[in-house]
Amino acid sequence: MEKRRLGNTDIQVSAVALGCWAIGGWQWGGTDDEKAVAAIRKAIDVGMVFIDTAPVYGFGHSEEIVGKAIEGRRDEVVLATKCGLVWDHETRNFSFADKEGRAIYRDLTKGNVLKEAEDSLRRLKTDWIDLYQCHRPDDMTPAEETMEALNLLLEQGKIRAIGVSNFSVKQMEDFRKHGPVHSDQPRYSMLDREIEPEILPYCRNHGMGVLAYSPLEQGILTGKVTLDRKFPEDDYRIDRPWFQKKNLKRALEFVEKLKPIAAAHGKSLAQLAINWVICQDELMAPLVGARNPEQVVENAGGADWRLTDEELRLIDHYVEELGPPEE
Ligand SMILES: NC(=O)c1ccc[n+]([C@@H]2O[C@H](COP(=O)([O-])OP(=O)(O)OC[C@H]3O[C@@H](n4cnc5c(N)ncnc54)[C@H](OP(=O)(O)O)[C@@H]3O)[C@@H](O)[C@H]2O)c1
Repeated sequence: MEKRRLGNTDIQVSAVALGCWAIGGWQWGGTDDEKAVAAIRKAIDVGMVFIDTAPVYGFGHSEEIVGKAIEGRRDEVVLATKCGLVWDHETRNFSFADKEGRAIYRDLTKGNVLKEAEDSLRRLKTDWIDLYQCHRPDDMTPAEETMEALNLLLEQGKIRAIGVSNFSVKQMEDFRKHGPVHSDQPRYSMLDREIEPEILPYCRNHGMGVLAYSPLEQGILTGKVTLDRKFPEDDYRIDRPWFQKKNLKRALEFVEKLKPIAAAHGKSLAQLAINWVICQDELMAPLVGARNPEQVVENAGGADWRLTDEELRLIDHYVEELGPPEE
C-alpha cells in the first residue's frame, strides 16, 4: 500500500490506518477476539500497517488484542495508542458514562500519563509506541504538565511522536508551546466536515499529520447499513445523528448517488469514502475501523488510486444538496 509521512516526522505510515475501537467490543456490541486478531494480521499482510488503538477501547482489551496480533511482527507495524481517558479511578474531570453506566474520566496529569504509557507498553507487548496521543483534552490539567510527561517519554525512547485528538486549535496551540505535537486525530468524513475551516489549516500550517477518524461515517458510507438494520443496545451508533431513521434515509439516498462514481473506478462505496479522505490532503491518513479480515481487505482498496477533481467537485455538490443531519 502507498505510504505517507506522518506530518513532519520521519515515520512512514500506510495511507490507510486501521482503527481498533470496534475490535475492543466496547460500545460496539461486543467483539469476536479470533476475528479481531485475524483482521489485524490481515491488515499487516495487505500493507495497512498503521494501527491505532486506545486503552479505553474495551478497558485494555483492544490493546491486548493488538499486542497478540502483532507478536513477532512488531517491526512491520507503526503503532498508535492514546492516554487520558480513564475508568479505573475518579478525577475532577468527568467525561461521560457509557450505556452500562460506567464512568469515564479525563486525566492528563503527568503521573497518569506516565503510568498509562507503562500499562499500554505491557498490554501491547512492546518496548515502544510510535505515536502517543492525548485522547481528549483535559482542561483541568495545565498543558505544560502533560507535555512534560510526553517529552520525558520521547526522551526515554518509549514513544516516537506526540499526538492529540479532539483538540481545538487553541488547545493545540497551548500544547505546542511546550514541545512538539506531531499529529491530530479528529473526526472527518464526507458527511462531517467540521474540521475544514480551522483545524485542518492549522495542522497543514504546522506540519502535523491528520488521522481522520470515522471516515466511513461508522458504516453508513459503505452502503451496507440499511434502514432496518438493528444495532445491539450498547452500540454507540444508536445515538449518532446520521443513524436516526429520518437522517439515515437521506444519507442512504446520498450514498446511492455515489454508486456510479465508485463503479467508474471499479471500486466499492467503502473504498470511495476512504479515497475521498486521501484525496483531501497529503497530511491525511483515514483511520478506518474494521471487525473482520474481509472488511480490512476491502478497506485497503481505498488506497493506490485517485478520484478525479471533477468527481470530487460532484461529491461536494451532493453533500451540499444533502445538508446536515436534523436534530
Ligand atoms: N480519537 C477518538 O476520539 C476516536 C473516535 C472514534 C474513532 N476513533 C478511531 O477511528 C477508528 C475508526 O472510526 P470508527 O470505527 O468510529 O468508524 P468508521 O471507520 O467510519 O467505521 C467503522 C465501522 O464500519 C463498518 N465497516 C468497516 N469497514 C466496512 C466495510 N468494508 N464494509 C462494511 N462495513 C464496514 C464496521 O462496523 P459494522 O461491521 O458493525 O457495521 C466498522 O466497525 C476507530 O476504530 C478508532 O481507532 C477515534
